Amino acid sequence: MIIPVDISGGTEVYGIFGYPVKHSKSPQFQTAAFSFYKIPAVYVPFEVKPEDLENAVKGAKALNIKGLNITVPHKENIIPFLNELSEEVKYIKACNTVKNIDGYLIGYNTDEYGFITSLKELEPFLEGKNVLVLGAGGASRAIVFGLIKEGVNTIYQVNRNLKRVENIIEDFRGFNRLVEEIIKPIPYSHINENFLKDVDIIVNTTSVGLKDDDPWLFDYNLIQPKHTVVDIIYKETPLLKVAKDKGCKTQDGLPMLLYQGAKAFEIWTGKPAPVDIMREALLK
Ligand code: ATR
Repeated sequence: MIIPVDISGGTEVYGIFGYPVKHSKSPQFQTAAFSFYKIPAVYVPFEVKPEDLENAVKGAKALNIKGLNITVPHKENIIPFLNELSEEVKYIKACNTVKNIDGYLIGYNTDEYGFITSLKELEPFLEGKNVLVLGAGGASRAIVFGLIKEGVNTIYQVNRNLKRVENIIEDFRGFNRLVEEIIKPIPYSHINENFLKDVDIIVNTTSVGLKDDDPWLFDYNLIQPKHTVVDIIYKETPLLKVAKDKGCKTQDGLPMLLYQGAKAFEIWTGKPAPVDIMREALLK
């Protein structure tokens, strides 16, 4: 059962910066986690316009907001305003979690952990796998970084604009000098039945599929039952529906959301995240 927080003079403030932020599910499940431990804290949404981000960060310091999640469109832009960056933020170039220690802000990226932890529920052993990553935008960077860390064999990264894949290879070179052998930039036209025989896992990191009538990224009828198919959108997209009908293992974006939040909670509090409680609150 979730115990409501009593607000008092000692209540700590946590929150999320986004624009828009109304759709965010983080307040509901982070609040459940604080309540579980009876930590006197509230977690609130802050709608921060892009042009107000720097002032909002200064405000967070001045108001002693203890921890923040950062979402679209601020994940990249917040970096110059932080005092310290964790290793993954330096490579991914995006930050979704900030810990405030007496005005000293440390930036983390827990999307990578969230994605890998949820994918492992379907595929416990990622080493040596071949992964088809659809998209090369901001969201793909944490995912590709995590897959490289897990020792996957090849990442076929598809994008309309292949320069964005080249940029990712460039940015990750310092992390793994073999990155050019792992990430292969490919155009959508390259995806055919033969190519997909070599793929174990398919991940959609684009926003295509958010609407049911969105165009397909490739011919999903080519998907084979052996594929594990993940979409980071929080619903059953056309991609997931076709994959499910084919008998594939599938997953939407909710587990990734849950685990990135669980890791953020651990960074802020030093306590193991009550994942079952958080999941229950998220699915409500
Ligand atoms: P995010 O932070 O959500 O990743 P982004 O950085 O704007 O957002 O990236 C959006 C991704 O979705 C990109 O990979 C983009 O492809 P391009 O870089 O080629 O534009 C992809 N995308 C968006 N709409 C698309 C569409 N209709 N077809 C294919 N890819 C699309």
